Amino acid sequence: MKDLPNNFSKFFYFITIVASLICLGSILKMDWSLRAFLSVLIFGLLASASESLPVSLPRGGYVTVSFAVFLCVVILFPLGISSSVVAIGGLFVFGKEVRGQPLYKRIFNASQFVVSIGLASILIEFVGTRGSFAPRLILIYLGAAVVYMFTNMTIVSIALGELQNKSPWQIWLNNIRWSIPNFIALAPLGLLMALIYRNYGPFGLLLLFIPLLVSRHSFQLYIDMRENYLNTVEALVQALEAKDTYTSGHSERVGKYAVAIAEGINMSEDKIEFLKYAAVLHDVGKIGVSEAILNKEGKLLDSEWEAIRSHPVIGETIIKSIKFMFDIGQVVRHHHERYDGKGYPDGIQGEDIPLESRIIAVADTYDAITSDRSYRKGKTHEEAIKELKKVAGSQLDPKLVEVFCKAVTTESASQIINAGKVQIASSY
Ligand SMILES: [Fe+2]
Repeated sequence: MKDLPNNFSKFFYFITIVASLICLGSILKMDWSLRAFLSVLIFGLLASASESLPVSLPRGGYVTVSFAVFLCVVILFPLGISSSVVAIGGLFVFGKEVRGQPLYKRIFNASQFVVSIGLASILIEFVGTRGSFAPRLILIYLGAAVVYMFTNMTIVSIALGELQNKSPWQIWLNNIRWSIPNFIALAPLGLLMALIYRNYGPFGLLLLFIPLLVSRHSFQLYIDMRENYLNTVEALVQALEAKDTYTSGHSERVGKYAVAIAEGINMSEDKIEFLKYAAVLHDVGKIGVSEAILNKEGKLLDSEWEAIRSHPVIGETIIKSIKFMFDIGQVVRHHHERYDGKGYPDGIQGEDIPLESRIIAVADTYDAITSDRSYRKGKTHEEAIKELKKVAGSQLDPKLVEVFCKAVTTESASQIINAGKVQIASSY
């Protein structure tokens, strides 16, 4: 806890105190019977089991199927029971994904569940009667589910924002796309669970376990597919870096400069992610060019130039054959086009060149100027900026050069270069 950002710690204590007050207040207010204790036990076990099977989100955080269980308890029981169940779900988590997880994470999760369920429960109590399934009440339950989801996502986004020093709003927007399918799949399941529990008791719930696990499994497959995609990208870049000594670290640095430009023109996070892959992969076609030519020192023959100039098209062909990567293929194809139309392979010009390709061209040129080659030392940041400005409008998009000059300073460039060096050293 000591090493965590100050703002996160404050937020952590705030959520924990609010949750403790909700939990204690509602538990003391309740009239506890054996049946109520048993409900906490059954649903607590269920919540703990669902929380123990999380699915990671691509940009931090995770989702679980426990949303269905939580919705079920908020529909069926008063806050004393539902807050105890979600607190158990947050605190008693098992499995390999959570092994070694610090205690504060569990406390935070349990607390944010309690706060979210507290608000959802207030909505149900305020406008409806708990436990009945009249059509009007189903709408209220769905409203409570939305309140739960929004509160939960907002608290998690603020916490992740403070921890990762990023904008909580951006994290919120990114994660909502992953949470909505989860919500659509799990909210009806939560309603169904409540209905079955009411009519058939705990044994009816057993019948629902299978669809619950299937729903988790399909979501996990979706995330795994994305993960595999990223691993493929990494393998392709590693194959290239092993072959072309000059390219070592180049792809990664171009990726970082490209992101700096993209952020400078306020590109959406989604597009930036797409650009990052394209930038890292831009020279992947060099895999199809002979090593002797790639590493040749001194002048190249015309035929050798021809071979090098084929790398954007080879790159596109490689990427096109991998599902998901088609659009990146277009960007890779055009990364050597020039703004004045004198580039290759298609000689297109100006804004006909995909924006991402123009961004990569600026990043690529800067890195080529500042990198050391066997026959010359790389130039300084200031010299490189001067050269970029010289070719702005002819070789490169002038607006993007301007953005680059503002976004990348001497300091940030040296950070990127040094980070690249460490990476290369550790990969040998
Ligand atoms: Fe290239």
